[in-house]
Amino acid sequence: MLYQTPRGTKDILPDESHKWQFIETRVRKIFHSFNFREIRTPVFEETEIFARGIGQTTDIVQKEMYTFTDRGGKSYTLRPEMTASAVRAYIQHHFSEVQPIQKWYYIASMFRQEKPQAGRLRQFHQFGAEIFGSPEPVADVEIIQLVMEIFLQFGLQQPTLKLNSVGCPKCRLSYKELLRKILRPVFDQLCPDCRARYDTNPLRILDCKRDSCHKLTEKVPGIETYLCEDCKSHFQEVKRALTTLSIPFDLDKRLVRGLDYYTRTAFEVVSSQLGSQDALAGGGRYDLLVKELGGPETPGVGFAAGIERLLMVLEKLHLPIGEMIKPEVYLVGLGNETSTTVREQALKLRRQGVICELDLLNRSLKAQMREANKRGARLAIIIGENELQKDVAILKDMAKGEQIELPLSEITEYVLNKLGKPGS
Ligand code: HAM
Repeated sequence: MLYQTPRGTKDILPDESHKWQFIETRVRKIFHSFNFREIRTPVFEETEIFARGIGQTTDIVQKEMYTFTDRGGKSYTLRPEMTASAVRAYIQHHFSEVQPIQKWYYIASMFRQEKPQAGRLRQFHQFGAEIFGSPEPVADVEIIQLVMEIFLQFGLQQPTLKLNSVGCPKCRLSYKELLRKILRPVFDQLCPDCRARYDTNPLRILDCKRDSCHKLTEKVPGIETYLCEDCKSHFQEVKRALTTLSIPFDLDKRLVRGLDYYTRTAFEVVSSQLGSQDALAGGGRYDLLVKELGGPETPGVGFAAGIERLLMVLEKLHLPIGEMIKPEVYLVGLGNETSTTVREQALKLRRQGVICELDLLNRSLKAQMREANKRGARLAIIIGENELQKDVAILKDMAKGEQIELPLSEITEYVLNKLGKPGS
């Protein structure tokens, strides 16, 4: 029996984990520069948090959640996204009483039982951010500028920002009515999913990916003209600020998003380097969600981006994705006598942040030198019995082939100098 990873999941093996670390380190640094702080929540939550938060009629809640009953009979779900969990934490820990504005970020795995394909997994990873407490367009702009800055710092020149406003329940009501009216005569031609959406959430029909549904909604006017005065001026201010900041965007009346909590601003960042799953990131405003989950009325806005998708784009465009770690120094020992000294020298260097490797197979000098070469070490430190007696070691520059003899007490300083390291 050969066990395999579950369908739609992947191992991140040691020869590719550096790419993940590279992305995480860079993203974390940018989040910190925008003064966002990290939130970590449990990987599973009470099912109702997602059902109510994301919306009962969404694909995620209806078809994609990993839900299980624990031994106590309680229903839990592996998080399919982080916003609902962040909101739960915001309410549970009374953050609204602490500081009016909370800026949080996360880097975490999510779970959705979708049909796996390129760029679509069942366990995938997101980095994302949420701002609680500001109803102002500047908060939307802070989030959008943040996400665009992250992609820019990874070297992506032209990811497209798609922008829309989905209004508030007040203005959505009349728009929904209009949609139903326009689509009633062609109801039978809609796909089964959209026929179900007709009553529950007709806005979602606009972003159905099927050509036939797309055609039927071609002439439907965008929501923009139906927005109430407040939503309209909010949207206008977001657009104005983005324009002044030279952040280009495409207005997309079909952009509705697959989660029901959005109000006003909704956006996606897409890349032409990806196939049909072209969204690198998505987000928007959710002014009613905190209240919906039992908290005080608190506006929110945020985004999340898919790490697997970002990696796909970086690899396709041959952009930097970090380097695998390799030993800087390989310590070669000979015989049992030298092994303690070799290990002591290695530890001294390791404590200064030098990446050291040593032989774990009691191999011959020749075999150890071959290994040092193969692993790409810059320096070899050779301590044989002769050297041990004289309290010295031989240091060999692997690229140049030059070697010198040094007292053991001087090794650390010499190596740090040679590697151009400050030491720690
Ligand atoms: P989302 O659009 O569902 O939004 O996901 C955000 C991003 O996660 C997508 O654009 C995509 O890059 C990635 N993603 C989603 N599903 C998968 C999958 N099955 N496989 C690989 N990558 C995937 C949210 O999750 C919202 N919580 C974003 C948000 C935060 N809105 C407000 N705050």
